This record gives sequence, C-alpha cells and structure tokens, in this order.
Amino acid sequence: MCGIVGYIGNQNALPILLKGLEHLEYRGYDSAGVACLNHQKDSLFVIKEKGKLSALKEQLKGIHLLSNAGIGHTRWATHGEPSRANAHPHTDPHNRIALIHNGIIENYSSLKSDLRRKGVRFRSETDTEVAVHMIASFYKKGNLTEAFRKAVEKLHGFFAFVVLSKDEPGQLLAFKRSNPLAIGLGDGENFIASDVTAFLPYTNRVLYLEDDEFAVVTREKVTITSLKTGKVVNRKPSTIRWSISQAQKGGYPHFMLKEIFEQPRVLEETISKRLRKGENIFFDTLSKKIDRKFKKIQKIYLVSCGTAYHAGLVGNYMLGKYVRIPVEATVSSEFRYEDPVIGSKDLVILITQSGETADTLAALRLAKEKKALTLAIVNVVGSTIARDADAMIYTQAGPEIGVASTKAYTAQLETLLLFTLYLARLRKTINADDFSKLLREFKKIPGYAAAVLKQAKAIETCARKHYHRRNFLYLGRGYNFPTALEGALKLKEISYAHAHGYAAGEMKHGPIALIDHEQPVICIAPESKTYDKMISNIEEIRAREGIVIAIGTEKDKNLMSLADDFFSIPKTHEVFSSILTVLVLQLFAYKVAVLNGRDVDQPRNLAKSVTVE
Ligand code: AGP
Repeated sequence: MCGIVGYIGNQNALPILLKGLEHLEYRGYDSAGVACLNHQKDSLFVIKEKGKLSALKEQLKGIHLLSNAGIGHTRWATHGEPSRANAHPHTDPHNRIALIHNGIIENYSSLKSDLRRKGVRFRSETDTEVAVHMIASFYKKGNLTEAFRKAVEKLHGFFAFVVLSKDEPGQLLAFKRSNPLAIGLGDGENFIASDVTAFLPYTNRVLYLEDDEFAVVTREKVTITSLKTGKVVNRKPSTIRWSISQAQKGGYPHFMLKEIFEQPRVLEETISKRLRKGENIFFDTLSKKIDRKFKKIQKIYLVSCGTAYHAGLVGNYMLGKYVRIPVEATVSSEFRYEDPVIGSKDLVILITQSGETADTLAALRLAKEKKALTLAIVNVVGSTIARDADAMIYTQAGPEIGVASTKAYTAQLETLLLFTLYLARLRKTINADDFSKLLREFKKIPGYAAAVLKQAKAIETCARKHYHRRNFLYLGRGYNFPTALEGALKLKEISYAHAHGYAAGEMKHGPIALIDHEQPVICIAPESKTYDKMISNIEEIRAREGIVIAIGTEKDKNLMSLADDFFSIPKTHEVFSSILTVLVLQLFAYKVAVLNGRDVDQPRNLAKSVTVE
C-alpha cells in the first residue's frame, strides 16, 4: 500500500506532486505529505498532514513555493497510527535528506535499537524512519547514492523508496524490492511513481524498475543499477496505451458507479479482442510452447485474494466442468503458507486486478520455486505479477480506481471463461458444436449486462427500504455461490454493514437461525441445475418471515411471487449467469453505501492495492 511520487524537471514540482497523489490516493489515505527542494533557502520544504490529501492541500493554501524537484506520499498505515508525525516524507535530523516509502521494513526494530544506542532520536513510530536515519549514518557529502545503497543492504522486507536531498539537488534516488516503482520519461523532466496514473498526464513512456534495482533520476537521464551485480541495466521503455481520461470520473459522482456502468463496454471489448474471425479464441500473449505445456498439466490451482478469489471460485466451476481436470481455488495468503503439493505438472493461475498484491505475488514466487507452470490473469499492464509469471493474459478492464472492484471482477470472470473454453478446445474436452453454441451465447453477454443495469432505479428503491439495516445474508449455489460471497463483500467494504455470503445448501446448518422478519436475504436464483433447490431454500426463508430479495431469470413468475423484491437477468446458460447477477449486487451495495453517506471510492481502512501481508 501507500502511494509514492517523485518529480524532477523544469516545471514547478508541487502541483505535479499533488496531482500525482490524487491519482494514487486509492493506495491509502491515512495521511499525505510532500518534500520539495527550496532553492532560495537551500533547504528542504517538508509539509505533511493526517487524513486525506484534501487536508494537506488545505495546509498548503497560501504557500507559493517554486521548486523543480520533490517527492510526495499518501499513506496506508502499517507501523504507527495515522498521524502527522507518522506521515511521510521522513527526514534525517539535519533536514538534509527526505525519504518516502511503500512497504514494510521487517527488521526495523533491531535497527532502531542500534540507532538509538548511537544517539539517534526518533520522531515517529514508523518502520520507515529507520531507513532515512540509516542513510544519514552512512552519508558524507557527495556520497548519497553510496549511502543509500549501504542502507538498503541492511534492510529486510519489501519496499519501494524515493529519496531527495538538498545536498545533491539534481537527482532523485529510487530503489525497489517487491513493491512497484515506475519511472516516467519526459522531455527535460522525469517522474517516479508507484503507478503510472500519477504521471500519465505528462508522459506515457515508462521504465519499470525490477526488484533490487536502484535508479538515479535526473531531469535528463535515468540510470538503473542492479544491487546484486553492481552493473548498469539497459532497459527499453514501454508505452502506455490508455489515457488519463479513462481513469477519470466522466460525469459520475463516484469512480465505482462509473466503473459499474462501464461493464457492458469492457465485456464487449474483452470478447471481441479474444475472438479470431468470431469463431476461435486466441490470446496474443500465449505462445505455442505454453500451449504444449497446457496440454500436459494434471491439476489447476486458482490463487487470488478478495474479489479476485471469488472470480477464482467461479473459475473452479468453469474449468472443472469443461476441462474435466481437478481444480482448486484458494486464497493466496493460505496457499503460500500451506506447503502446497505442487510441481511441474500443475498449472497455478494467479488472478489479480493490480498485479501487485503481496500475498498473490508470494504465491507466484512459491509456485515458480516448485516448478509449476504459472499463468497470471492481470488487469494492470506491466505490473509485477504480469511480468513475473510464465504466461500472462490481460483482463483489459482499463484502470479501475474505486477501491471496491467491479469491472475488473466481471472482466476476470469473462477471461476465465474464455480461457476455460480455450483450454477445453486445446485438450479436446469440448466438442465443436457445444463450443460454437457457447461462443454464440457468449457474444450476447455484454448486451445482457446493459439490460441488467437498466434496473438501477428499482435497485435504488430497494436499497432505500433496507439501507438502515446492519445485517444482510447472501445465498447462492453453483456458479452463483461465489456471487453471494462477492455481493456480501461489496456491501460490507463500502457500506460497513455486516453481510455474509453462504452456499444456500449450508443455510440449514446454521445461518437459518438468523432468519426473522427483520433479516434481509439476497437470494441469487437464476435458471440452473440447482434452481429447484434454491426455491426450496427461499420457501424456508419465507416460512420464517425473512425478507427475500431475489435475483432470477426474467419472467420467472414463481420466483417473483416468493420475493419481496425481484431483479432479473436475461435468460442465458448458467455458466454466464454469475457475470450478470453480480451487477445487481454491485449496484445494491453502491446505493446502500451512498444512502449511508459512506465514502464509496475510498472506504475506511482499505486500499486498492494491498502490497503488505
Ligand atoms: C475488492 O473489492 C477488494 N477491495 C479486494 O478484495 C481486492 O479484490 C483484493 O485486495 C485483491 O486485489 P487484486 O485483485 O489487486 O490482487
């Protein structure tokens, strides 16, 4: 977590840093701060504030600072509460060196004790402050790069740093281990950031730092050096194809709402890019060699976190049904520590929007260590997981800013389904007829998604009836059991109401005790092979006076008669249903959160990209 940004060039740094931080606030918003070179006073100007970036901007009102180099930070607290003292940048006692950090320094405690013994006084409770004091302890005028390298060598953990010093004003220094850092290449100016969105208004030419690499960034030049070999690394810049306007709100009150309504287009684009002559599925990032390996695998693991884990659960049903191979979906934080029995005959699929989630990245590294074949299904282009996996498929959802994942989820479901059908053709577990039939139906899904979203007004009316309630139960079966989990996650993360997702068949094993006339139960019951079982569950809820909010197939009179509120999806094959039913639940969560006055795009305690364990 945490967003970091740096600028050096011929423009005024402060507005550029603040703009960059606006784009990075999704990574954390417990505090914000900047440090800029104050050329007139030959000093560092440092200002920080607890809370969101808006609080820092308030502090900056009336301050006119001209500076052409600076660094900025937006924090998601790990060590030390959200406060001004714990906000970054952190500086050395003489205010010569300022540092920003994303990650965790695992051995900070012992280093802090050593430094204290040497007389260093700490002004914060953060692990980060250790790093700046370490640099200062090695620093002699003119050797900042060397001091930075020596300090980094002593640190354990995972981090991205950017350092600015008044003594060496012509450069910014950066280092990356595990956490992302991208360098934006401008004309007479250069940028550093956790994510390209921070500098995309200025340049789309990017150099990604790899693990254990240093960068010395001046306004004219970027020099990357490997910590391990000490050699200079020559890397070609990549070009980012999406524009900053894609990452802005486009007239919607929140990014989340914009992203919900973008889904028909995203679904359409994802399918059309993957179909050759409308009849065959292809992935430009998969080689013949990888295809040969796919043919030989004996088991598939789907490994991911949060919403992406729910996509993995849907993938589990899809792959099991059409590829007829053992599949296991698991959360990355369990997978990485359970000593999984995997080897060269296994395929480990990592699903992630950001491509930077710490647990998923660790799972990828473990799978590679154990010689499994790894495939990343990733949204953020050029992210660490996308680059490190053996093979990779981009989900093409475009930038997702709302902390609550919406369009990235349905793009993950769609990509998993395309991959399932691709693999089934490759391994000959589906016949040509069934394949074509499914593809024909697949192409209708974006249009169906648009139809589902037309119920937004009715969903809002339903949300108005229930937004004051503190407990919600979500039930589904088969492909829509993960939808129940995802609907519940959406509601709790943005509205802070308690919501629990359950496999409907499990209701009688405990949750049924919750049902009374005040308990809303969201029942996801489109046409499927377990439809009748869902109807029995709904009858059981009604018999106990529970409030039934149902999502079913259009014109399902039976379900309508059982439900207090009914929302529909068009009639379709059950394998596609979870892409459509979840849209209702995203809108429901959004409306409930707005009615409760929640900060939808930046819910408390969360961050978009979870780069800590
Ligand atoms: C989704 O709404 C969440 N905020 C969260 O669960 C997210 O899906 C999870 O942190 C995984 O992120 P990733 O897809 O970037 O790996």
